[in-house]
Amino acid sequence: MTGANVRIAGVGKYLPERVMTNHEIESLVDTSDEWIKKRTGIAERRIAAPDETTSTMAVAAARDALAMAGLAPTDLDLIVIATGTPDHLGFPAAGSLVQEALGATRAGAFDVGAGCAAFGYGLVVGAQFVKTGALKNVLVAGSDVMSRIIDWRDRGTCVLFGDGAGAVVLQQTDRPGGLRSFVLGSDGCGAPKLIMPGGGSKMPASHESVEARAHFLKMEGANVFRFATNVIPGSILEATEKAGLTPADLSLVIPHQANIRIIDHAREKLRLPPERVFVNLDRYGNTSAASIPVALCEAFEQGRIHERDIVAMCAFGAGLCWAAAVWEWN
Ligand code: ACO
Repeated sequence: MTGANVRIAGVGKYLPERVMTNHEIESLVDTSDEWIKKRTGIAERRIAAPDETTSTMAVAAARDALAMAGLAPTDLDLIVIATGTPDHLGFPAAGSLVQEALGATRAGAFDVGAGCAAFGYGLVVGAQFVKTGALKNVLVAGSDVMSRIIDWRDRGTCVLFGDGAGAVVLQQTDRPGGLRSFVLGSDGCGAPKLIMPGGGSKMPASHESVEARAHFLKMEGANVFRFATNVIPGSILEATEKAGLTPADLSLVIPHQANIRIIDHAREKLRLPPERVFVNLDRYGNTSAASIPVALCEAFEQGRIHERDIVAMCAFGAGLCWAAAVWEWN
């Protein structure tokens, strides 16, 4: 098989219209706008409308990414949907719903699940198909409706998350650059620290599981925080070194938008100035698999990514697991 390279030919995003402020959450649980802003950096998040789902949001983001790439849905060879909240639990995959709604009649489609790190995994998987020369155009979207699996009675989690979708079109190219390196990691002994106990094959839905609120996300916040402060700078550094670079070579770092304190800690450890680390969590909170592609799209729209720039992306999440990628914009 001939070798080929990969480029991001298009980016797109979709955020639901409805804005939910911290003040609104004050009426649901014992919290305050001041606490949420100080401890997380989040001011507001978007909430999907009742008729919106992971696949409808991914379709909207995908249309923008395809338009930027100048491609039709029928040009796509593969659709990868990164999500932890698919419209249906595996049957069918959200990927097939996106494929049908787009009219991407030539494309295969599947989902990638890796908690909030799912887009990083999807990006690396999609890029492999293109780099081997097997496929020409691959859509990778991260989309999550976290508002549907959050326990709105649990102040330890409900203040953190929001809904949204982001997408990239990966395309075969002769230009150098693209995916320079990546790191994929998992530490499954941390599984209980971030888990939705019910609804899977281990605990199918029952009256008891609903009563136990087992279909909502449970999180050991402080333990996940500790994990994240190690894994974000650590995996960015590892991926950067794999690419033969140092943090000083990074034009822009796009970290998972989970908590401003985690981001600031990583920035200090990597000795990067604030302008080289992208932040939008004040407006969207943690949109899980959508976090990185939405941020990438906004960074591009704001003129913060140029030809030959080295962009590092890094996410962590349930698993526990993580994914980092160093991308040379080409
Ligand atoms: N409002 C007010 N007080 C709160 C709230 C809230 N929303 N949440 C917790 N508190 C209280 C606690 O009860 C505790 O009170 P106490 O001292 O009386 O017991 C106090 O605040 C401090 O609690 P901590 O847990 O130490 O608070 P911390 O500053 O660590 O912030 C947070 C908690 C924001 C959850 C933090 O631990 C965090 O961000 N963790 C990482 C979470 C994360 O990134 N998750 C996403 C993973 S990605 C994925 O795949 C889904």
